[in-house]
Amino acid sequence: MNNTRLIAARCCLQIIDKGRSLDRVLSELTQSDDKTQLSPADRSFVKELVFGVCRWHGHLEHLSTQLLSKPLRTKDRDIHYLLLVGLYQLQHISTADHAAVAETVNGAKKAKKVWAVKLLNACLRRFQRDDADKTLDVNSQDLHQLTHPQWLVKRLKADWPDHWPAVLQANDERPAMCLRVNTTRVSRADYLQRLNAFEIDAIADPMSEAGIILETAKPVTALPGFENGDCSVQDTAAQLAVQLLAPAPHQRILDACSAPGGKLAHILELTQGLAIVDAMDIESTRVESIKDTLERLQLTANVASADASDSSTWPFADGQYDKILIDAPCSGTGVIRRHPDIRHHRRVQDIEALQPLQAAIMNACWDALKPGGQLLYATCSVLNAENEQQASAFLQRHKTAAAVRLEHPCAFALEIGVQTLPGVHPMDGFYYALFEKSH
Ligand SMILES: C[S@@+](CC[C@H](N)C(=O)[O-])C[C@H]1O[C@@H](n2cnc3c(N)ncnc32)[C@H](O)[C@@H]1O
Repeated sequence: MNNTRLIAARCCLQIIDKGRSLDRVLSELTQSDDKTQLSPADRSFVKELVFGVCRWHGHLEHLSTQLLSKPLRTKDRDIHYLLLVGLYQLQHISTADHAAVAETVNGAKKAKKVWAVKLLNACLRRFQRDDADKTLDVNSQDLHQLTHPQWLVKRLKADWPDHWPAVLQANDERPAMCLRVNTTRVSRADYLQRLNAFEIDAIADPMSEAGIILETAKPVTALPGFENGDCSVQDTAAQLAVQLLAPAPHQRILDACSAPGGKLAHILELTQGLAIVDAMDIESTRVESIKDTLERLQLTANVASADASDSSTWPFADGQYDKILIDAPCSGTGVIRRHPDIRHHRRVQDIEALQPLQAAIMNACWDALKPGGQLLYATCSVLNAENEQQASAFLQRHKTAAAVRLEHPCAFALEIGVQTLPGVHPMDGFYYALFEKSH
């Protein structure tokens, strides 16, 4: 018999202590199905526990230091994470408390660390008792600061002095599951009816023409026609990118940083397959993910592995583009609510390293744009250094560039570009700046 709590604790150890990505660790879990024989329900419970511990890690650590008289030894980090898994269940999910404690404690037996049974039992029972008295409580603003690295809290306070508490809080909440209907295959109205027929509650997304918001998240295998390409999972803010780029049939379009192809597919859907679209990504393994996306959605584009910051590596036919999308490599600080491991892996030095790369990609792409053409620079970041500051430096460098005024009812209009913030706008945090080249 598997112990889902122990499996989750071991996944958290891999992600938080060893710095591995949450997606990779969870996908290995799925692939190792034969070995672990996890039922679909157990697999989704493990996922829930792993997401929860990654999201609430700072606070759970804070609680654990109050419950343990001394830290556990390095070789017992599995037991440490088992404790966090237990605390997460008691504090955040509706598992019956006795089952949460008993099964977490059983995890120690399964790990062949019987000595830890008494310890886990004592800590979890004390938490149940003391939490009821609120002696372990922290106020909610401090709580969300505890769940983020200090450098990020500091940056958010500086960049968004009025909004940082809302952003931190949203990062700790579960976001809605959003879909984009593949309008080359089915209209949004018809797809909504199909969801309805499958008793999946959903509404049309008021902020995106092809968007749908589900009442409750579902595995993609439960979505009608997903395998045949009738829809994709994509946040509203990511859908705005292609709406703002406004590609048209018969245009020549470049998607410079394309993997796994979410926005590329949206470009192809909006242009009904009538645009000539080139797409690249620097990582060849990720280029495979673009091909998978296009195959599932039954769409076509010219796809290659190349460095967007160096046009001599681009393998596409000569000529200049009408539209270019740069969905730049960035800190990902706008999508922490969907990828809670970002807060554990991202370092302040990463931002410094990303800025020159972002600028180099913008420079190389600008040269490939036709006079009169438009380039959209996008990031899923909420940090000014990667966003408006980057856009402003670009305008300084390129006298042929003018910023196009962007407005959206659900985004902050900045001097250059627009910004969405999780917790303030009903979507992920994204930045967009649109530039037009003079004739
Ligand atoms: C934000 S992701 C793109 C997401 C994608 N546009 C989508 O909607 O599915 C950024 C991508 O940029 C790629 N990248 C990083 N440096 C690059 C470079 N120099 N040239 C091309 N792609 C690069 C990364 O491999 C990553 O896949």
